Amino acid sequence: MADSSCDLSLFPDSTAINQKGCLTIGDSNLEALAADFNTPLYLYDAATIRTQIHTIQSALDAYYPETSAIAYASKAYFSYRFAQKLARENIELDVVSLAELRIALRAGFDPDRIHFHGNNKSMDELQTAIEHDIHAIVVDNMEELLTLEKMAVQSGKTVRIWLRITPDIRVDTHPHIETSAATSKFGFHIVTGDAEQAMRYGLNSAAFNLTGIHCHLGSQLFDPIPYQAAIEKILELALRCNYTPLEISPGGGWGVRYTETGQENEAARWVRPVSDTIVRICHQHGLRLPKLILEPGRWLVARAGVSIYRIGFQKQNLDGEKLLAVDGGIADNPRHALYQSDYTAKIVQNPAGAADHSYKIVGKFCETGDVLIEKTALPEAQTGDLLIVPVSGAYQLSMASNYNLAPRPAVLWLEKDGQFEMLQPREEPDISSWWI
Ligand SMILES: Cc1ncc(COP(=O)(O)O)c(C=O)c1O
Repeated sequence: MADSSCDLSLFPDSTAINQKGCLTIGDSNLEALAADFNTPLYLYDAATIRTQIHTIQSALDAYYPETSAIAYASKAYFSYRFAQKLARENIELDVVSLAELRIALRAGFDPDRIHFHGNNKSMDELQTAIEHDIHAIVVDNMEELLTLEKMAVQSGKTVRIWLRITPDIRVDTHPHIETSAATSKFGFHIVTGDAEQAMRYGLNSAAFNLTGIHCHLGSQLFDPIPYQAAIEKILELALRCNYTPLEISPGGGWGVRYTETGQENEAARWVRPVSDTIVRICHQHGLRLPKLILEPGRWLVARAGVSIYRIGFQKQNLDGEKLLAVDGGIADNPRHALYQSDYTAKIVQNPAGAADHSYKIVGKFCETGDVLIEKTALPEAQTGDLLIVPVSGAYQLSMASNYNLAPRPAVLWLEKDGQFEMLQPREEPDISSWWI
């Protein structure tokens, strides 16, 4: 495994340094993969994903005395072959678009394990969800509730729904990924009375089976206290409406560490307080315990993924800052531009070398904000070296673009002993088709 002088704790579980001193993942030779599949290149380590799923499920089994499930938030990263891999794990799925729903169904996800979220679902999306009798349509607003009721009546079905309740609670994260404040566009707000009105309506309508309540506070959270406060508020609301939910989902959002100095965030620090709060309130009020469904995205896949870039030209700016330009950037990873996210990196060919050079890592795109890493320490880098960025598995490719007509990168799934499969080929657009 890893050289003890080289901290690989941000990297996937199967990361090691081989006899030549190069990084490997799942025993795969990363230089060979980069040569064969071009760069930028994204890799997912199967072992890490399985461990993350197992860790959360074990915490649920240890701390929650009723049925529970993990629903992977597919917006973190999704593709057809990735969905096929996940469908073999014993998990549920959160989708937010027709494409995600269709891919999930085609990849073999049982519709009874799929929940459909979103604040502005299209008629097509609602119709397809109804046709497939998915586990729950998570209704966001009154217009949607009324529309869905008509559609349910027309289809002659009783549709299973959850209500997305917004508990009007602030969380400590980047404002762009905070979703539960009083000003949030998401869900039925408690403070306005909308949540209570929707709950009473949903309970009284013959078109619906109101199976659950849901909230999602935001993403990249490290504090369990807001989850506890949110659960108290949504269960209080249910009690006010004489409603005993069969299912409760306090969303996802548990954060991950992006840099060596960042805070560790074990699953149990999330699962235990969430479980204890539900159990306490339900016991106090004599409610039957609902099934608990957690919806992690980032926590399941972020550390499993790495991105690999080829280092190109270097320069020094007026402040003496050394810039390393790589062959990707904002098009495959917009997270620094969107959220000023921090990352670190290593050089694949020399991960354990003395990191005595400070670099700013910039991309190749026509935008000053095209920065991958503001400042990172590396051994002296050479043009042609491969730069590897850990914790690249969530909200990078799923938010990628074709800016400057960049092709989206290839994505591989790494098993052990050097075995790998293609999840997504690198986009190779037929340029002649652009002239039509
Ligand atoms: C409804 C819902 N559930 C779960 C998630 C997953 O969040 P994370 O990837 O931070 O766990 C999101 C993310 O936006 C979400 O909107």
